[in-house]
Amino acid sequence: MNGMPYQVQGVVARGKGQQVSLETILVPDPGPGEAVVNVKACGVCHTDLHYREGGINDDFPFLLGHEAAGVVEAVGEGVKDLAPGDYVILNWRAVCGSCRACLRGRPWYCFATHNAAQKMTLEDGTELSPALGIGAFAEKTLVAAGQCTKVSADAPPEVAGLLGCGVMAGLGAALNTGNVSRGDSVAVIGCGGVGDAAILGASLAGAAKIIAVDVDDRKLAWAREFGATDTVNSAQADAVEAVRDLTGGFGADVVIEAVGRPETYKQAFYARDLAGTVVLVGVPTPEMTLELPLLDVFGRGGSLKSSWYGDCLPSRDFPMLIDLFLQGRLPLDRFVSEKIALDQVEEAFTRMHRGEVLRSVVVL
Ligand SMILES: NC(=O)c1ccc[n+]([C@@H]2O[C@H](COP(=O)([O-])OP(=O)(O)OC[C@H]3O[C@@H](n4cnc5c(N)ncnc54)[C@H](O)[C@@H]3O)[C@@H](O)[C@H]2O)c1
Ligand SMILES: [Zn+2]
Ligand SMILES: [Zn+2]
Repeated sequence: MNGMPYQVQGVVARGKGQQVSLETILVPDPGPGEAVVNVKACGVCHTDLHYREGGINDDFPFLLGHEAAGVVEAVGEGVKDLAPGDYVILNWRAVCGSCRACLRGRPWYCFATHNAAQKMTLEDGTELSPALGIGAFAEKTLVAAGQCTKVSADAPPEVAGLLGCGVMAGLGAALNTGNVSRGDSVAVIGCGGVGDAAILGASLAGAAKIIAVDVDDRKLAWAREFGATDTVNSAQADAVEAVRDLTGGFGADVVIEAVGRPETYKQAFYARDLAGTVVLVGVPTPEMTLELPLLDVFGRGGSLKSSWYGDCLPSRDFPMLIDLFLQGRLPLDRFVSEKIALDQVEEAFTRMHRGEVLRSVVVL
């Protein structure tokens, strides 16, 4: 304890809209309940770009990256069930076990998830805000021990890390939040990493019809590879009409919104059958508002849900999904469009913005 901090390289967003830069950062020795992890891989998620754009909050500078796998370097006092050398996926919802959600047996809703107590800093002592309490575009990062979920080391880190955010969010939006079941019709609006994972989840659950909706034909072609049975380019056709046409005029049982915008949410709302389910997994920005006729909200019945992290429980879902991958039943590796170095995150943002990748993954 209280040794010299680790001095490593990390990707920092210094101000709103500014290009990210590779900086020397100081990672303290783990204190009570904390762990330092040697990051092996970290995917570039749209939420990292949201942070850089100031769309999440103003707590600059951010240490970006939050979709990661690595090997535990050291653990602090009182840490049980985790030791140096353990291969882990980092999760951004370490459940507390004692809040009202946890006590009711619904820990995936935990209202008191926690992160490391100590701060990582720049060399001059400026405290960093790690993205989603992780900050894994770095050689090492400091997290709460509960943010480390052990999985089989047979899964390569660039694949395992994806479950740390977007792919888990999408799979869980379909499997956990949307409760997609055998024979259901499902529409997914926005087919990036998150949306395609929702398509894969719907396929795994036995959905009979899976309609992919995006404004980019390349994304629609990839969506088919993850199990979409039909595709709609909503830049060229009315998304609601198209989904209804493909579902006997009724709409889909479950519609998953994976963009995070009011207009796509409205499409999801009206592309859903009566008594169907809308799942919002896309993350909106603070200025966005939604207006809907209240009579339609009532009259169409069903449920309107949001999906935090795919309502996953990391300890339950990560090892299970990694095992399915290792058995060849869940092609998580297909999400990895390219492997990049730590100093290429800014270029990866550009490629994500242009729609050229599903996931760029930093490999260390
Ligand atoms: N709820 C969660 O826990 C969680 C976790 C991770 C990411 N997210 C959010 O999910 C969203 C998607 O993330 P991603 O990494 O897949 O992003 P991405 O940029 O890879 O994908 C977004 C997709 O939406 C498409 N799109 C954009 N505008 C559209 C429109 N008007 N109609 C249809 N499609 C449109 C794009 O072409 C692209 O394919 C983001 O808002 C991200 O912040 C949520
Ligand atoms: Zn809790
Ligand atoms: Zn993310």
